[in-house]
Amino acid sequence: MLIFHSIEECISWRITQTTTLGFVPTMGALHEGHLSLVNLSKKECDTTIVSIFINPTQFAANEDLDSYPKTIDEDLQLLKEKKVDAVLIPKVDQMYDKKSDNYFFESELSYKLEGKSRPHFFKGVTTIVHKLFNIVNPTHTVFGKKDAQQLLIVEQMIEKKHPSIHLIKGPIIRNSKGLALSSRNNYLSKENKIIASNIYKSLMNIKNMLKSGNKNADDLKRIFTELIKGFPRLAIDYISIADTKTLEEMKTVDRTALISTAVVLNKVRLIDNFIYSPST
Ligand code: PAJ
Repeated sequence: MLIFHSIEECISWRITQTTTLGFVPTMGALHEGHLSLVNLSKKECDTTIVSIFINPTQFAANEDLDSYPKTIDEDLQLLKEKKVDAVLIPKVDQMYDKKSDNYFFESELSYKLEGKSRPHFFKGVTTIVHKLFNIVNPTHTVFGKKDAQQLLIVEQMIEKKHPSIHLIKGPIIRNSKGLALSSRNNYLSKENKIIASNIYKSLMNIKNMLKSGNKNADDLKRIFTELIKGFPRLAIDYISIADTKTLEEMKTVDRTALISTAVVLNKVRLIDNFIYSPST
């Protein structure tokens, strides 16, 4: 497995690659969710490259940039076991050498849901993903549905700015209790992970209510909020039932909807979602 610590090394290698190249961008602290994306890339492409870069511009000053979990040795071991071809681990000053090029893709979607609580976030994400795409120049890229809004915005960015890249969408990987895997789960004790699994259970409660005919979004959101309030230490940031393309809130859930939430547990912000489709 090749490991590139500089952009130049990666670009020189890329020039020598002539078949399909799948790219999985990550911030490290890898878990089965990330590895499932690697599997998808390997299935679809001849060659797979993963990047590990904790992107400072997607963290606000009061967020967890400094404490974000770092497990680089374990990460490299896992990627080696998966037989990934190459890993890019660029340095911050290389990725951000000029202050002026720090915003790339403007989307109305960036200011909804996650963007309301974290207005800097998608600016940072699209900036870094664009830069990484330009370096890696992949034929395919794999993103997880766990970050549904990120996936939607990256999809828009690919359509408009990188139309030759084929986007592969990976399903959400969960632990046995339903908690969506996340690098930030490393902050949680065993007990808190069990408490956090109530987020998924409460989302599934919405799904069940929808199935039994309650389609009133305000009702469903109110019941979800009450449920979350009932669990110790969980504080809700938002619950949204929105159109899957525009992210506009729906009143009546009579078509496919993205049902997504952010819940805080002991200062750890956890997000989760599911897609509701009336036909399934
Ligand atoms: P990170 O949180 O490390 O996630 C990297 C990729 O793994 C994203 O596409 C994310 O959706 C996916 N992922 C995370 N948890 C998952 C799970 N439980 N199941 C399936 N996929 C999962 O997302 C980022 O990093 C950054 O914003 C990044 C795109 C790398 C830009 O800095």
